[in-house]
Amino acid sequence: MIEYDLNLNRSEFGNPTNEGNVISKEEAISLLDEWVLNEKLKVHMKQVGHLMKSFAAQKGYSEEIQHQWYLAGILHDADWDQWPDQHCKKIIEELEKREIDPKIIRAIASHGPKYFGVEPETEMDKMLYAFDELSGFIHAYSLMRPTGYQGMEVKGVKKRLKDKTFAAQVSREDIQDASERAKMSMEDLIRFVINHQINPTE
Ligand SMILES: [Fe+2]
Ligand SMILES: [Fe+2]
Repeated sequence: MIEYDLNLNRSEFGNPTNEGNVISKEEAISLLDEWVLNEKLKVHMKQVGHLMKSFAAQKGYSEEIQHQWYLAGILHDADWDQWPDQHCKKIIEELEKREIDPKIIRAIASHGPKYFGVEPETEMDKMLYAFDELSGFIHAYSLMRPTGYQGMEVKGVKKRLKDKTFAAQVSREDIQDASERAKMSMEDLIRFVINHQINPTE
């Protein structure tokens, strides 16, 4: 696997005067349709978008805030498919050009602290980091289960996490690190994903 230097070498994102600015769900999806050719990757982003929105909803945040969380999730890997060497620099610059809320841009910039050199600070940052790898991992697990998500249990997911040959590309270290930063137990995080993950291909 080619290793790119993805360090963003910056710590400020977006313009504070754009606070509250968003794009619609339709605009976000059309950006994905344009940028992301890989259907599986699109599924991943839709799933993370949905988890982010669900988490914000469960916290009792307003529709407006829920939409911001959704955007951070659905757009976080938008540039990964066609420009892996510019991940997530390209999507950040695009969202800055579109003058969207800096909170959303910052969350995207911090979804892989090890790679992008930006620490997750806000709750939105931390939850995006926490859901990212875990969502993909649990989806991979659902695809190998005859009943998919139905009847899936936390302990089954934990067993797969221990099996290093299963979805080997998923970093267990990142999942652990993210759960600690989010101050959520691995069990609670896994349970949230099992209960809220959608399968947009169904
Ligand atoms: Fe990513
Ligand atoms: Fe991702």
